[in-house]
Amino acid sequence: MFNRAVGLLVQPSAQWRKVAKLPAATMTTMILYPCIMALLPADARGNSGFPNLSDSDWIWGDTPDNIKTSITNGRMAAMPAWGPMLGDDGVRNTAAYVLSLSGREVDAEQAAAGKEKFDMICAACHGADGTGNPMLGAPNLANGVWLYGGDPEQVMSSIHDGRKGVMPAHAEMLGEDKIHIITAYVYSLN
Ligand code: HEC
Repeated sequence: MFNRAVGLLVQPSAQWRKVAKLPAATMTTMILYPCIMALLPADARGNSGFPNLSDSDWIWGDTPDNIKTSITNGRMAAMPAWGPMLGDDGVRNTAAYVLSLSGREVDAEQAAAGKEKFDMICAACHGADGTGNPMLGAPNLANGVWLYGGDPEQVMSSIHDGRKGVMPAHAEMLGEDKIHIITAYVYSLN
């Protein structure tokens, strides 16, 4: 009984001594990473509108520099709302074409009509082949990875209403050194 009580008292401090021996970098990551990930599920796989950080699909580029810039300055994505310009039929058709890019079965006539609109309007940001442009944060539409969901309804809603994903800047909150460590951690996730 007495031993167990002593054990309980000693154990926590023993654990802290262990933690204190870890390199400062590891400790900082241990403390800061959960704060950032509070916005994401614990496995960093992302919610709707929050990208998965553990796959190999990088909307804003896959180099450590790109990742560091995302954390430091944040990112603001601007996908305009195309509903007013395309109308409901146009939105449905471009959605069919977009879905066909990742091999989904769609109505061939709708997709053909959608391709015309896509080449005219969407290719400027998403690329002629729909694989995206990291400079603009325009995601790859052809790899089956969806920021806002790949159901036809969700894709149509992205096109009709637009999307404005925001990653806040962390330069002031974290500072250069901590951002460097977190960048390394995020880079290591995939
Ligand atoms: C001015 C550049 C631009 C143009 C033009 C543009 N998009 Fe986008 N699109 C974006 C950006 C940036 C995002 C990411 C938005 C975000 O992260 O919140 C996006 C997101 C999307 C998404 C959501 C993808 C996902 O993973 O959930 C779809 C679908 C989409 N665009 C389709 C289209 C279609 C179809 C057109 C043409 C009618 C089009 N876009 C035209 C910039 C553009």
